[in-house]
Amino acid sequence: MSETHALFVPIQLGRHTLPHRIAMAPLTRSRAGQPGNVPTSMNVEYYRQRASAALIVTEATQISQQGQGYAWTPGIHTAEQIRGWRAVSDAVHAEGGKIFLQLWHVGRISHPVFQPEGSLPVAPSAIPVPGKTFIADENGNGIWVDIPIPQALTLGGIAAIVDDFRAAARNAMAAGMDGVEIHAGNGYLLDQFINSNSNRRDDRYGGSFENRARLLLEVVDAVSTEVGHANVGVRLTPMGRFMGMGDETPEETFGYIAQHLNDRSLAYLHLVEPAIVGTEKDEQYDPRWDSIIKLMRERFEGVLMLAGGYTLDSAKRAIENGRADVIAFGRPFIANPDLPQRLREGFALNEPDPSTFFGGSEAGYIDYPALALESR
Ligand code: FNR
Repeated sequence: MSETHALFVPIQLGRHTLPHRIAMAPLTRSRAGQPGNVPTSMNVEYYRQRASAALIVTEATQISQQGQGYAWTPGIHTAEQIRGWRAVSDAVHAEGGKIFLQLWHVGRISHPVFQPEGSLPVAPSAIPVPGKTFIADENGNGIWVDIPIPQALTLGGIAAIVDDFRAAARNAMAAGMDGVEIHAGNGYLLDQFINSNSNRRDDRYGGSFENRARLLLEVVDAVSTEVGHANVGVRLTPMGRFMGMGDETPEETFGYIAQHLNDRSLAYLHLVEPAIVGTEKDEQYDPRWDSIIKLMRERFEGVLMLAGGYTLDSAKRAIENGRADVIAFGRPFIANPDLPQRLREGFALNEPDPSTFFGGSEAGYIDYPALALESR
């Protein structure tokens, strides 16, 4: 018997009424067509299969060549990429789904092989980066490599990135997307500016938390002016430690950001529970998170989406007790194209295979089975 728990009750998000509260989290799968990082018919099929999500947030998609940091991730800065994404959004819409494109600039998490003219990746500050990135070797196989010390952005370089976000948002709408999600988490460019660990600037983009939040808010304003604030979401990972993140003033920083995003009437704010921001459980879970999320929930009055290790039970609890309005599922959606139906009707879930998360072909991508009608 199907149930009508609050998790399955519609909600308004921006211009759209979502049929339930189970969204698909953004998931990098490293399978864009080469050359050119262009979505393919296989990518179209992957998203089409998952169109019963209340909202699909696409995999992180670079806004410019400079914004790429890993092999085979898609972009939204060329005409071919726009055409590729148009086929994806058309397929999702034909199934009755909604889809926002996640806009991504990796900042320092990159490598000269991806950068224009082989230059150093850009960052708020030229300091060493703890972490590795994933490039293709001469045989086309993925290998993990060290990240060089990045170059600090000039003010002109920062302004150019704001323009790149604006243009990419325009391109996403031209590709038929229902909106865009600005990726400001997981240790990528905007998060590098926000966190004091990675931002040692002494100009208007560094120092105080207001200054460290400035680039995010400028990007939000540029993108909102371009595509309309109701078509814009923001993803943050407060207290995340991934890729060397860490902030001296997390309550002030993220409280301030939540307040200022609230003033901008966005479609939604998307936060990742810090215990899990990538594929690994963070052993250094910071207990201050509970007060930070409470503060952000108070200050941001719009739709709040939460992700990170959710199950059917914890998702139900989070909706019931008002912790969140929408829950985004990541890995469960990799393995269960029809996840909302499975959760609603209480069916068992397929287990995702981490060995096929990044790169490869159809296996572990479009061959996870949907519920067969006869199994009901
Ligand atoms: C991710 N995650 C992620 N987050 C993001 O903002 N943009 C992205 O492109 C990706 N890519 C990505 C790839 C893979 C293979 C994994 C497993 C995760 C994080 C993801 O959106 C989500 O927050 C986490 O997976 C936690 O949710 P689950 O998987 O516990 O439901």
